[in-house]
Amino acid sequence: MPLQHPRIRTFEDYQDAYQRSIENPEQFWASVAEPFTWRRKWESVCKPDLVDGHNEWFSGAKLNITENCLDRHLATRGNKLALIWEPNDPKTRQIRYTYRELHQQVCQFANVLLNNGVEKGDRVCLYMPMIPQLAIAVLACARIGAVHSVIFAGFSSTAIADRVNDAQASVVLTSDGLNRGPKQIPVKRVVDEALESCPSVRRVIVVEHLGWPVHMEEGRDVWYHEEAQDAAKTCPAEEMDAEDMLFILYTSGSTGKPKGVVHTTAGYMVWADYTFRNVFQVEENDIYWCTADIGWVTGHSYLLYGPLLNGASTLMFEGVPTYPDAGRFWEVIDKHGVNVFYTAPTAIRSLMATPLDNVLSYSLDSLRVLGSVGEPINEEAWHWYHTHVGKERCPVIDTWWQTETGGIMISALAGVSPTKPAHAGQPLPGVQPVLLTQEGQEIEGNNQEGYLAIKASWPGIIRTTYGDHERAKQTYFGPYPGYYFTGDGARRDENGLYRIIGRVDDVINVSGHRFGTAEIENAINENDNVVESAVVGYPHDVKGQGIYAFVICRDGACANEADKPRVEASIIETVVAQIGKIAKPDKIQLVSGLPKTRSGKIMRRILRKVAEGETSNIGDVTTLLDPAVVDEIISGRK
Ligand code: WT7
Repeated sequence: MPLQHPRIRTFEDYQDAYQRSIENPEQFWASVAEPFTWRRKWESVCKPDLVDGHNEWFSGAKLNITENCLDRHLATRGNKLALIWEPNDPKTRQIRYTYRELHQQVCQFANVLLNNGVEKGDRVCLYMPMIPQLAIAVLACARIGAVHSVIFAGFSSTAIADRVNDAQASVVLTSDGLNRGPKQIPVKRVVDEALESCPSVRRVIVVEHLGWPVHMEEGRDVWYHEEAQDAAKTCPAEEMDAEDMLFILYTSGSTGKPKGVVHTTAGYMVWADYTFRNVFQVEENDIYWCTADIGWVTGHSYLLYGPLLNGASTLMFEGVPTYPDAGRFWEVIDKHGVNVFYTAPTAIRSLMATPLDNVLSYSLDSLRVLGSVGEPINEEAWHWYHTHVGKERCPVIDTWWQTETGGIMISALAGVSPTKPAHAGQPLPGVQPVLLTQEGQEIEGNNQEGYLAIKASWPGIIRTTYGDHERAKQTYFGPYPGYYFTGDGARRDENGLYRIIGRVDDVINVSGHRFGTAEIENAINENDNVVESAVVGYPHDVKGQGIYAFVICRDGACANEADKPRVEASIIETVVAQIGKIAKPDKIQLVSGLPKTRSGKIMRRILRKVAEGETSNIGDVTTLLDPAVVDEIISGRK
């Protein structure tokens, strides 16, 4: 019988755990970590470093995370469902794996990787649909100590190539195609295009999903089902160091190029497990469903690792909330008896906009806990979720965290701590949030607003940005040495509950996905018609933020009004090719100039006001090189 992980059950437990985690973090985290399967225990619990960003947790320990996700459950939960897969089309077959079956599948995939020469430390990129083999492949990488880097399957071939090259991946895993609602997408073709500029890749393993004919590059590409034929269903787990890299996940920042956020083995494991257990309060026989794609960190921590570490039954959904109709989420909840449901505000807002019958025609009796993640949840969406989905019976927990934090940082614990619409709430044990002034002074007391930073290391903290530690240091620890800087602004209410306001840097959050304004500008500037561009976010009813692009065209490119629609369409095409459909500008305004200071800096404050429609309140423009350009921009506002 594996050791039991204690769980916070009451608000007093929470307060007690929080207190202990602050007073003696080493003792606190040693006791949290104790029940895992370790090949060797740690020499030191924590080596914090919020100046240079060299954080370590459980250094000296040896383990494999998949032994903790799978092997240790076999004795007591071997026949329990581990993974339930709901396909895109509700009429086609579901797949269910028990812990024993999932263990076998992972071992078999791991053997295929080994047979194809993948070694400990090698980077493997995965560009796959939301099918069981994606979950299995991620765990198979971890089993043999390869570093997984999942690339969301909506990114373009250029974006894939950037990530594969940055990670210097030797192997890519993909599939013939994917389903997204009514559409099918030829995923392998996108990978083929990307790999034309990826010399590090020597092997592509293709999982058959749609049964589509695909080009197989001689000497490079193999089919998974052929490779798996003779592969054994057992595979010893590689012994990993606590601080060995577990995965890289690319995310956008305020500068142009997405960065590879690195998480390592032991600290990430402890954090994903601890936060999952205490936030969601999943019970032994529950069905838990997180709607995120494994291509994002939410899918890593709360579809895969957190639930499996806890021995929970986790549901994976291939499709979209609106296919075959806007009742699909609720249909899946009733069909599988989902007890704990975790989704994003953008999904809620898009479903809110459809007839209420879509949700009222399902019972949703099984639900007990509702979660939200990815962006601020506005009060209207919070109430709709609470009333019509949770029937005012289920706590709505608003979980604030980031790719870089590895797991949830600020959130109510379901049924344990207070919830308040649009507020994430209180920090988890081990998390010490502070509000800073722009100059870096801590703001004391409640009813205050400032830059959100964290003043102590926690097990899931980002370890580095792949291949460029300096970048991690500058981004997260440089702005306020001694603090991890989140890039978010927040407010602490009269009771000390945190409300996240949004990014304070040049990052836009579109439907819970992060883009740097510079990243989108770089993409737009690739278009032959374009001289220069400036991108800002603006409030969008469904997406949270929309993308507004101000673009200066080359002389003559849009000399006539009639040229404009063609140029705009071609700019959109360029962004789709450079990044993917998810980064498509919502509005493009062709302008003759941008508001620049005499030193040549674009005044985004002005552009943001225009995009938001706040044109009567544009502020001081006297420092601009050419104030007249502002009038032109205002009158041409989309
Ligand atoms: C950014 C991180 C966390 C996994 C998914 C997104 C915003 C995230 C919330 C929330 C308000 C939130 C922040 C954060 N964000 N959760 N509950 N309330 N804002 O991960 O892509 O790394 O983005 O998403 O702005 O900095 P990510």
